[in-house]
Amino acid sequence: MNQHWPESLIKEAEKLKGVRISDLFSQEADRLSYLSANACGIYIDASKNLINHVAFEELVSFAQKKRVTDAIKSMFQGNKINYTENRAVLHTLLRSSQSNVAEYEAVKSERHNVSEFAEQIRSGKTLGATGKPIKFIVNIGIGGSDLGPQLLVDAFRSSIPTTLDYEFLSDVDDEQLDYIWKRVDPEATLFILCSKSFTTWETQTNAKRVIERLKEAVGDNWNKHFAGVAVDVDAMSRFGILPQRQFKIWDFVGGRYSVWSSVNLIARILLGNKLVDEFLFGAEDMDKHFQDAPLDSNLPVLLALIQTWNIQFLNHSVFITLPYSHGLRLFPDYQQQLEMESNGKRVDRQGQPINWPTCPYIFGQLGLNAQHAFMQLVHQSDRQTYVEFIAVPSKTRNFEDDVAFRSCLAQSQALMEGTLDESVEEKRCPGNRPSTTLVLDKLTPKTLGSLVALYEHKVFVQSVLWDINAFDQFGVELGKKIATQLTSKSVEDNNVDDSTRSLIRFHSAS
Ligand code: F6P
Repeated sequence: MNQHWPESLIKEAEKLKGVRISDLFSQEADRLSYLSANACGIYIDASKNLINHVAFEELVSFAQKKRVTDAIKSMFQGNKINYTENRAVLHTLLRSSQSNVAEYEAVKSERHNVSEFAEQIRSGKTLGATGKPIKFIVNIGIGGSDLGPQLLVDAFRSSIPTTLDYEFLSDVDDEQLDYIWKRVDPEATLFILCSKSFTTWETQTNAKRVIERLKEAVGDNWNKHFAGVAVDVDAMSRFGILPQRQFKIWDFVGGRYSVWSSVNLIARILLGNKLVDEFLFGAEDMDKHFQDAPLDSNLPVLLALIQTWNIQFLNHSVFITLPYSHGLRLFPDYQQQLEMESNGKRVDRQGQPINWPTCPYIFGQLGLNAQHAFMQLVHQSDRQTYVEFIAVPSKTRNFEDDVAFRSCLAQSQALMEGTLDESVEEKRCPGNRPSTTLVLDKLTPKTLGSLVALYEHKVFVQSVLWDINAFDQFGVELGKKIATQLTSKSVEDNNVDDSTRSLIRFHSAS
């Protein structure tokens, strides 16, 4: 650990290493008050972590020393905090109901355009090339052009009218497109080519393959079955997307932060504009809380400090997210890109390699499924893991019948308590595993918006504490570059390593 982190925190962590989390409750009467926070319909209980009041206050002081509050202001004002790409970071502008930032008018106008188009499709007013109303919506996109819209659509899929159906096409395996083509009627399908850069290999490949098949059904009128979402309007025109179906996003919105933009077109069609606007309102609520709440009662800051404590001082490098709500089953997938593509970095703002750990490995799935899949390891292996639970209490069942909620609370308690009195070693759970529990009043478009914004801002606060840029992603370029250089001729190429060369031979075409 170098001078970046206060010596006092290092010492406090040392003191705590021999302590049991459960003992801290009897030692600190105010434990729940300083380790919990509530806003925007979300309650965070971080009291089952191996941390004490002294350490927490030191963390808050560290956040003050790192000028987190100024960094928050700077982001919302549109300063170019994405310093490696010289760009502002304004995904928050996309969900603002008002703003004096220069780009706001364009954002507002685009939100109006995409909402209008979505309503025309949703209402059946806009017909396909052969006169059929649109019934199927297929989003062609990957990463942030897929995960955000999927999370939103899946969370509220029971509200999709039976007149509409959908698919998300991100993989380039012919199997996925064959399956989709069996399910949809091309003459009644709208394909949304969703790609911020409009250059992503997988998305371009899928779009061209779809057009080839679509032409068999509607010939040159294929563009009556396409809409496009991208930064570069000219690129959409060159591709053949009709002007009135081109929806613009901006460079000041990262792909993994773009669910608030026209990237959510498929959700606007399937779920309706009112629901998606509620999602945006929820995020705006969290934006206000994030900007206004003091650091020691600020949900994104609390989550950031607790997670940073577990990473920096307790050496956790694996984080598990377990939602106990079916509508949040895709949240861990979404969170993976948001966090690991934002903070999976190793160079600080001065361009120097850092020697402290940053973003952990993050995975997860529906909590109840996880209990029957990998929670055995979390309870009984010696791996250090940190678990974040997201619970949504049932509004129709009492506590005893609320299997999901009760299981969630039981898991967090079991991780903390363990089974110390167990004499048979194979049955013993050491316990003292840290966890944080978030409780949503209810899963609504608004609370989902607040939850996603909470994690976006948590990621941002961590990047400030770590002195890194959360908004570029140069690490994804190398693989793409090598892929374009690998051809069937690479087998003769002496610059290719023997392993890759031998692997290429497995492809029948090479
Ligand atoms: O993974 C790299 C990345 O650029 C992501 O940041 C982005 O969300 C995804 O690929 C898709 O990019 P695009 O929306 O430009 O097709």
